[in-house]
Amino acid sequence: MAAIKETVSNLIGKITGSAEEAPREPSAEEFQALKKKYTDANQGQVFAFVDELQTADKSRLFHQLSTFDVTRINELADKALNPPKTDDAPATLEPLPSSATASIIDSDPTDLKSWYDAGLKQVAENNVAVVLMAGGQGTRLGSSAPKGCFDIGLLSQKSLFQLQAERIAKLQDLANKAHGVQSATIPWYVMTSGPTRKPTEEFFAEHKYFGLSKENVFIFEQGVLPCISNDGKIIMESKSKVAVAPDGNGGIYQAIVTSGVREDMRKRGIKHIHAYCVDNCLVKVADPVFIGFSASKNVDIATKVVRKRDAAESVGLIVQKNGKPDVVEYSEIDQATAEAQDPQDSKLLKFRAANIVNHYYSFNFFESIETWMHKLPHHVARKKIPYVNPENGEAVKPTSPNGVKLEQFVFDVFPMTPLEKFASIEVRREDEFSPLKNAAGTGQDDPDTSRADIMKQGQRWIEAAGGIVITEEDKFGVEVSPLISYGGENLEFLKGREIKAPALLEKEE
Ligand code: UTP
Repeated sequence: MAAIKETVSNLIGKITGSAEEAPREPSAEEFQALKKKYTDANQGQVFAFVDELQTADKSRLFHQLSTFDVTRINELADKALNPPKTDDAPATLEPLPSSATASIIDSDPTDLKSWYDAGLKQVAENNVAVVLMAGGQGTRLGSSAPKGCFDIGLLSQKSLFQLQAERIAKLQDLANKAHGVQSATIPWYVMTSGPTRKPTEEFFAEHKYFGLSKENVFIFEQGVLPCISNDGKIIMESKSKVAVAPDGNGGIYQAIVTSGVREDMRKRGIKHIHAYCVDNCLVKVADPVFIGFSASKNVDIATKVVRKRDAAESVGLIVQKNGKPDVVEYSEIDQATAEAQDPQDSKLLKFRAANIVNHYYSFNFFESIETWMHKLPHHVARKKIPYVNPENGEAVKPTSPNGVKLEQFVFDVFPMTPLEKFASIEVRREDEFSPLKNAAGTGQDDPDTSRADIMKQGQRWIEAAGGIVITEEDKFGVEVSPLISYGGENLEFLKGREIKAPALLEKEE
């Protein structure tokens, strides 16, 4: 295992050109050759201050620039900034076929149980892995630490990372007990980025991997791309450094190949992968129902969705677009489509499968990444990007967006997947989706809503098990440690017991 970790960090060093290692000084010929490449590509401004640089900084700049293919960057920037005009006929949108969908809300309990049992068996047989997407910079939340380290104000003060780790530990435990084994292991691959890697590693080490075995936790790093000005020029953050940004959550595909993650999964014989976003405090990591459902459909990709609240909710939707699985953003559909009723049930919206970026992949699908990875488009995110003025060398902190970050989206792979290899399962929002996006006090998807959703869920679980939760206005909820219950199971010992809210149900040491 140690050998694999070494491979991972070596590759990452290569991708990002780690600033800490002493860079090798390039020869004059090497430097000239690189300069010519950039100048020929009309990006010579990156060398504007090279004559003022000390040798070490000059070498760092050389190494950073060597990691990019400037011609490709120009192509990506051009496509993203000047998207080709399409005058195609309007897309045909339909919900996914019913053969590819299910809903936890109205599924036959026998199906739910058989998916759960099948999924738990896969866990017991060590066929399941999880990939966490935690490379985002969490700008809306505004915390300087990675989002996963965030304490949403639970009584236990657990971070999002800890909640997820404990769910993994509990599921391993449930699988061991159900199948009379002791070795159920769910490897956890944590994707970080330049800005989040180090603090994430430190946080995991400081918290002793939250009780998980260190050799089953892999922190890896996604790629970065240069930030581009509105007229397509690579932006310099300082005289010796290009401004870069993580390449979006779609960078996951390239990163699992280049970082050695896929190789590690292959060695372990992983068959099923659950991938999810760090900011969903209710995420059911490696959910056996999801694994069992997806495996039973024999698909490459499956998604969890929640029911769109109403026609006006601003959420992306999982649909079939021109006969292919896809995501359409709320801004892309007209009012009539948003309001259309389900022909089977007029109380429901026809298009109600809200995208929560919570995916299943078969390992076989990961084996094909190289065949389609280059086709994933890059999207433009307009941002305020601090830069050094190429005219006079002054550092500038812009107050309005001055350039773009180029990002891939994890779900852009959907249309490349045949419809029959794609499935979707509707889950209860109150049980599975509460994202942390905004700073405290905003009232929506913020630390308070995250905390409240966990507390309310614990209360529901306890009441369903026959416990009595005594609440008062503003005093509600029970935080149930994931080490006690993964999804509400095994709480019967609380039957008839009174619990004064807010309360914490924690496992005794
Ligand atoms: P968001 O798009 O919500 O971004 O990420 P964010 O970084 O969390 O927040 P803002 O937009 O800056 O406020 C959705 C998920 O995708 C991951 C995030 O960590 C989160 O889990 N992500 C995003 C990556 O892993 N890499 C990226 O480059 C971008």
